[in-house]
Amino acid sequence: SPDIPAANAMAHAQQLQSISTANGGNRAHGRAGFRASADYVKAKLDAAGFQTTLQSFTYQGATGWNVIAEWPHGDASQVVFLGAHLDSVPAGAGINDNGSGTSAVLETALAVARADARPAKRLRFGWWGAEELGLIGSKHYVANLPAAERTKIKSYLNFDMVGAKNTRTWGVYTDSASLGATLTEYFRGKGIATRGINIGARSDHAPFKSAGIQVSGISSGDDPCYHSRCDDINNIESSVLGHGTNAAAYAAWKLAGVPARVPL
Ligand code: PHE
Ligand code: ZN
Ligand code: ZN
Ligand code: ZN
Repeated sequence: SPDIPAANAMAHAQQLQSISTANGGNRAHGRAGFRASADYVKAKLDAAGFQTTLQSFTYQGATGWNVIAEWPHGDASQVVFLGAHLDSVPAGAGINDNGSGTSAVLETALAVARADARPAKRLRFGWWGAEELGLIGSKHYVANLPAAERTKIKSYLNFDMVGAKNTRTWGVYTDSASLGATLTEYFRGKGIATRGINIGARSDHAPFKSAGIQVSGISSGDDPCYHSRCDDINNIESSVLGHGTNAAAYAAWKLAGVPARVPL
């Protein structure tokens, strides 16, 4: 898998901070900062050659969106899915929660495109709306999948809060020993400690799990600015976000079966 510079993911987090600042200080469902966040992510993916979809839904009288991107190579009947929620709470910019996961998954997708990867399986990426109001976007996505499409999704990996300062031990949650082992393997290779955590249904892996799909995810852990105004760009640490990003890329490469490049 590639070695993605932490600065690449930090640049996305910076853009999400700017979007928040320019739109009243948050990126919450129903607010201009959310729509601008979705437009930012989609434009990057479109430019990189992904098949992208904006899936709309309505919640509490406001339109929300999921951004879905598929890399159009590999066996379409075996989908490896990586996702992160794109919305913040109204209190602030939501840069650790979850500009960090948004940036990690976006930069992983862009690395797939830069590598012009030809995976054995299909890679799909999702950025969910209205997670903070009860996993609304990811529930909408899963509920609207035809049964035949649902069974094609072989695994879902979730990235929610992957940039917290002073992270010493990463949390790994999983309902599948092998998916959890793949994420853990990345950190072991870097000499970074992990521990198993149980976050229940507190993030977007939950609707996938309820649909019978194997799920796992990582989180960098506790954060004093959680759901507060101070969850801004100064609330994350570049090296931590770099590891969250490279863990996502490691898992994407391994689970989708991206062959190592033979130098010409
Ligand atoms: N960040 C989640 C939320 O949207 C909750 C969560 C807690 C996720 C702990 C991962 C780890 O508020
Ligand atoms: Zn192909
Ligand atoms: Zn949250
Ligand atoms: Zn979150």
